[in-house]
Amino acid sequence: MSATQTVTQTVADTFPTTLCVGQPDIVYHPDEGKFRARTARRLAADPALPQRSLPDNFPPQVDGPIVWEGKDWKDESQWVYNLTDEQLAEIDRALAHFDSLDKPLGYINKETFPLPTLSAELWKLAEVLYNGRGFFVLREIPIDKYSRRELAIIYAGLSSHVGSGRGRQDATNAVLAHIKDLRATHAHEKGGIGNAAYTTDKQVFHTDIGDLIALLSIQTSAHGGVSRLSSAGRVYNEIAKTRPDLITVMKDNWPLDRFGANPGYVERPVLYNEDGHIVIQYSRRQFVGYNAQVRSANIPPITEAQAEALDMIHFYAEKYSLELNFKKGDIQYINSMGLLHARDAFTDDEEHTRHLVRLWLRNDELAWKTPKPLEETWKKLYSVPPEDQRFPLEPEIRRTAGGATK
Ligand SMILES: [Fe+2]
Repeated sequence: MSATQTVTQTVADTFPTTLCVGQPDIVYHPDEGKFRARTARRLAADPALPQRSLPDNFPPQVDGPIVWEGKDWKDESQWVYNLTDEQLAEIDRALAHFDSLDKPLGYINKETFPLPTLSAELWKLAEVLYNGRGFFVLREIPIDKYSRRELAIIYAGLSSHVGSGRGRQDATNAVLAHIKDLRATHAHEKGGIGNAAYTTDKQVFHTDIGDLIALLSIQTSAHGGVSRLSSAGRVYNEIAKTRPDLITVMKDNWPLDRFGANPGYVERPVLYNEDGHIVIQYSRRQFVGYNAQVRSANIPPITEAQAEALDMIHFYAEKYSLELNFKKGDIQYINSMGLLHARDAFTDDEEHTRHLVRLWLRNDELAWKTPKPLEETWKKLYSVPPEDQRFPLEPEIRRTAGGATK
């Protein structure tokens, strides 16, 4: 069956039951031995690969404040913004104000959650996301003082001053997503657990869709779960210097698995140079699957060159990464167009059950130009009207339009 036929099939028909034919030997967890062997095989077949020219519009090197590596940072005082008692009191007043309006949570915005003095600080921090290092941590929200609903209002309210666009997390218009080990409670759902976000497993380097990611830590794990960030520009510089042929591979189209959605796959690059910004945008599971969600049969496999590039991005991102430790009550904000992120495996115990709540945001005034192949996705992401926005207060797995988990 051809890939074209897959596009028109129903969800049930396309749900994967067999391996994708012709897929290279590569899985979700990068294997450095296999990566080195693949590189050696490809260079033996074509020793001139490292001498290839960079594609048009891709410079030999990039620089700027968002091009950094882990060792450039001394300690967390460089990126942690500590909220003062007066600012926390201002947040409480904004919470009371929003509650007094008696509006659905989708109406949380800069006007309904007013922060007379903190707003200007949050704007400066938003500028750091788009024009600076690309990340910061807000510390700390006194989690235990509030109900889940109050926390959702505070979190979305504060975040609306960083970026007023709130992205939908799934096909049911959820705008809050929970990152938590849900294997004991949700593994029976259609599609099962197809994303490391719902396990204690390591999440390898990737980006989310959209401009900005916010992660509120409601509870931390007993051990592990370190969060890692890495600069897309730094990774780009290394690949451009050593393997310019793979820059060409990255900026060309890749087949992204949509795991049973219709169409079964879409094609787009993983690398863009838009308006002077290097953007890497991909999730490894879209090319190799994860756990129950193996790569769909009857869609095009990735190529050996793409498999090599995937591992190279991961290993350079890991090499040049910065570790961030979440504290309970922290909110981590990340520019997901300029930075990749990952998380170590972790263990929970009775009192420590790692639980993050995620928002996807965009600040229209500060935003980078969205690369054309991403425009449609971005438009859908940030177009949920306030009355349709859903704020799941308890953990659930994101859903596709077909009802399966994703
Ligand atoms: Fe992520």
